[in-house]
Amino acid sequence: MIKHFLALANFSPSEISTFLDRAYSFSLLKKSPDKINHLLKNKIFSNAFFEASTRTRSSFEIAAKRLGAEIVNFSPENSSTKKGETVYDTLKCLESLGVNGIILRHSDDRLIELIAPKLHVPLINAGAGKYEHPSQGLLDLLTLKKEFGELKNLRVGICGDILHSRVAGSMMVAAKKLGFEVVLMGPENLIPKNDFSYENFDKSLSTLDAIMMLRIQHERHDGIFMNQTDYRQSFGLTVDRLTKLQKHTIIMHPGPFNRGVELDDEAIEHPQSRIWAQMENGVYARMSILEWAAEE
Ligand code: CP
Repeated sequence: MIKHFLALANFSPSEISTFLDRAYSFSLLKKSPDKINHLLKNKIFSNAFFEASTRTRSSFEIAAKRLGAEIVNFSPENSSTKKGETVYDTLKCLESLGVNGIILRHSDDRLIELIAPKLHVPLINAGAGKYEHPSQGLLDLLTLKKEFGELKNLRVGICGDILHSRVAGSMMVAAKKLGFEVVLMGPENLIPKNDFSYENFDKSLSTLDAIMMLRIQHERHDGIFMNQTDYRQSFGLTVDRLTKLQKHTIIMHPGPFNRGVELDDEAIEHPQSRIWAQMENGVYARMSILEWAAEE
């Protein structure tokens, strides 16, 4: 059976824990590259990114290389997409050329689920519209696990444009599966109607184990809904608000961030920030995904 990695929703709690354990073990081998650089020798993956990316694309490439695999990068701007080739035909082409797996980012929420059954190589979701970003979900969980050990009973706040966030989508799925609490904060019109509780940002900040700040996803809106100064005033993690955090609370953000809007420079560089650590953890999380996908 082909092993597609499409959504955290498709995995059991114990499968998610296995990914996290493996990612954690890769993090411990950071200084011993020779112990792992043969694991995916002779494998070739394709990075097929139909939307912009810095972290996800680069960290999948680094993850592949750390495990001894090679990566073929595909960009629609300089490909036959320009001549009208469909996403499906592009992926079938990469499959025909002999790649061992395809890492896909696309703006469509569900395209990945429609295409996956038609492929004979693993398809890995690197961000699907507003649906899920499961490799980001794993790296976020790994960041929490490294910090707190146990995920159960943590209280994690997500603040911002949750309605358009696939990062929040994967985190909410993970919370239900793994038994921690997620509370939603931000402009009311950007909060989905679901069974997670909606809380006041200023009142709840002092109650959290982790606060995940999100960028307004302007590319998924019709227009700017609030000016940036007003947004920062109401929902930014400002220097003033940093004083409300408990000493153990960690600050997270999936990136890219808009400095001075959803969080101040001081929040990014704060001793309780784990934002750069999240990016490093992305490599380990993606190593665990590539290794799993390539297993016969
Ligand atoms: N967090 C994230 O997906 O970042 P990129 O868009 O840079 O990949």
